[in-house]
Amino acid sequence: MGGTNRVLAQAGKPAGLTVRGNEFLLDGEPFRIIAGEMHYFRTHPDQWRNRLDRMRALGLNSVDTYVAWNFHEPRRGEVDFTGWRDVVRFVETAAEAGLKVIIRPGPYICAEWDFGGLPAWLLESGNPPLRCSDPAYTELTLRWFDELLPRLAPLQATRGGPVLAFQVENEYGSYGNDQTHLEQLRAGMLERGIDSLLFCSNGPSDYMLRGGNLPDTLATVNFAGDPTAPFEALREYQPEGPLWCTEFWDGWFDHWGEEHHTTDPVETAGHVDRMLAAGASVSLYMAVGGTNFGWWAGANYDTSKDQYQPTITSYDYDSPIGEAGELTEKFQRIREAIARHAPVPEPPLPAPPPRLRPQTARPEATTGLLESLDVLSSPVRSATPAHMEKFGQPYGLIHYRTTVQGPRQTAGLRVSGLADRALVFSDGKYLGALDRNTPDLTIDVAVPGRTGRLDLLVDTGGRVNFGHQLSDPKGITDRVLLGMQALHGWEIRPLPLEDLSGLRFGGGTSAGPVFHRARMSIAEPADGFLALPGWEKGMVWLNGFLLGRYWSVGPQVTLYAPSPLWKQGENEIVVLEMHEAGQDIELRSEPDLG
Ligand code: GLA
Repeated sequence: MGGTNRVLAQAGKPAGLTVRGNEFLLDGEPFRIIAGEMHYFRTHPDQWRNRLDRMRALGLNSVDTYVAWNFHEPRRGEVDFTGWRDVVRFVETAAEAGLKVIIRPGPYICAEWDFGGLPAWLLESGNPPLRCSDPAYTELTLRWFDELLPRLAPLQATRGGPVLAFQVENEYGSYGNDQTHLEQLRAGMLERGIDSLLFCSNGPSDYMLRGGNLPDTLATVNFAGDPTAPFEALREYQPEGPLWCTEFWDGWFDHWGEEHHTTDPVETAGHVDRMLAAGASVSLYMAVGGTNFGWWAGANYDTSKDQYQPTITSYDYDSPIGEAGELTEKFQRIREAIARHAPVPEPPLPAPPPRLRPQTARPEATTGLLESLDVLSSPVRSATPAHMEKFGQPYGLIHYRTTVQGPRQTAGLRVSGLADRALVFSDGKYLGALDRNTPDLTIDVAVPGRTGRLDLLVDTGGRVNFGHQLSDPKGITDRVLLGMQALHGWEIRPLPLEDLSGLRFGGGTSAGPVFHRARMSIAEPADGFLALPGWEKGMVWLNGFLLGRYWSVGPQVTLYAPSPLWKQGENEIVVLEMHEAGQDIELRSEPDLG
């Protein structure tokens, strides 16, 4: 391919994606972007090709992906581009599937991903300036670009590769107006060898377009529904240039405790049809939603109600290609819409990936979390409670223990600066839970003897990924009050729960959260869905891999357990239930997202 580009250059034709008037050119020929978003970090790498093939079958010619900085550098200085994090291999795999690639490197990406893709260690000291030209933030983001961009630069279409374009930041106009910040990011990209088309992607409101764009950089818009008004707004801001909806929201995401979102396939395809008829380019957000495995789900913050809203584990998004690779009705309707305007690959369509047969397993062994603290982490001593990022902990739970002098009368225990829920124990007895969304709630604690032991186990949802509550350190950021008195002298244990192999499973019952181990035997790996009827809230590991969080408040009922995580024969399932365990774990062959 590189040879073609040299020939183009010699003939005076531009290589790669360029703009002429209201259209795109690819290697000098008219080109329209019909793309869909898929995040390599939300699909197991062994399934990348499977999903990319389906995107191609949908009639797409390109895939857009964000790059999630925190997925590559969860701990400061420990940068990883291997295996699941091999974004170069993802780009190459897309090219093998016949797709061009659009890169959205952030460093802030939003995306319903923990902290909008920013690494937790940025919050070590609490609440630093983010997403602006503050020198410390700028330096760290450019250092990250030093790692990332030289890997992607050789893959650009300007050099014969599949990468067409790069986005600068993400919907910056919804957040701030620091043009210097955008300029620094753009310069940082150019200095590191990015010579592709650059664009800024924003919501279609006036202030968003004004705050989130850069002169001399293509402006694009993001929206759901009818394209007429958003494209008019873009035209007003940018009178000439190709129209491109860089995020056409064809579905939506869910929060725990809220309704499951879906959109009508016919209506959604109608909007795609209208955009293509207008000669516009489009990126479906999402084409393949995928899964917020592990601790990676993000959260929103409703400032009008002062409520934290954690995002669920599934990121199916009601997208045309389902979380398990299903070709949905929306896939069929959008494919028909695309076919009216561009060639789509001939049938047959890719066959549905195989599913596991249903079965039920009853846990055979348990062990209490509070009894397992020593095998899971070592304690740190601190005069005051502190958030997990202070200890270099990127995610997980965090445990706080202190001793209070007695005897003293019953008083209300309250946590100021709690993210997100604290299970409170007095002398090993569970007293109840405190929650970030009910900050005035207290739990009565009595200390009848000379001393009393207090345990607070903090359970976390994802970090906020959108808006101005973006700094969302986890654990206890401020203080624990018993009545009027702040409690001091803490033993703190970070619990990232990355390695459960030290747990000593046995029988018996214990107070508080319990790990439950079950086994399931299967003939051949395939996709499955785990359900926990009667269980309340916690996490599930399959063969040591954290599938994510479950919660009986819904809407999500089943967790996607993809084929590459299963082994032929016996498989180990570990559930950490924070409250009341149910009896059985179900393996189902159909998802239930509520
Ligand atoms: C915005 C962001 C995306 C995503 C969507 C909602 O458009 O740019 O990252 O958060 O909202 O799904």
